[in-house]
Amino acid sequence: MAYEFTNDLRTGNAIIDGEHKILIKAANDASEAINQGKGMQELESTLSFLASYTKTHFENEGKLQDKYEYPERRRHKLWHESYIRDINLTYTRLKTEGTSPVLVAELERRIRILITHIKEQDTKLAAYINEYCQKNPDAF
Ligand SMILES: [Fe+2]
Ligand SMILES: [Fe+2]
Repeated sequence: MAYEFTNDLRTGNAIIDGEHKILIKAANDASEAINQGKGMQELESTLSFLASYTKTHFENEGKLQDKYEYPERRRHKLWHESYIRDINLTYTRLKTEGTSPVLVAELERRIRILITHIKEQDTKLAAYINEYCQKNPDAF
């Protein structure tokens, strides 16, 4: 099943939304490669991109949290860090063990967890940034 950038994933922050769209596409590419048995090379390149772009995106989101002094940034960043560990674990297992129904399910589960994070946590962060900018129009 393809993941979609549905309206409930839209945070309203152009930078964050733009990166989330890339993430959803990366998740679809990895999921397609693994589900359609596209071979190890394709699987490795899509998964490697998903893992590395997730890290890049989290770093960028972290910078925004610092810039706007997001009160929940510590908790949010800790979650990002643990997610990076988890997605890399799945990536490494897939690389070393090859695909299996268990690992396919694990990857899909991790992707769904990320989508839930976008829906529940990143929308909160973007709402905070939006409010901050309205209250401090000359801040930056
Ligand atoms: Fe995000
Ligand atoms: Fe986040």
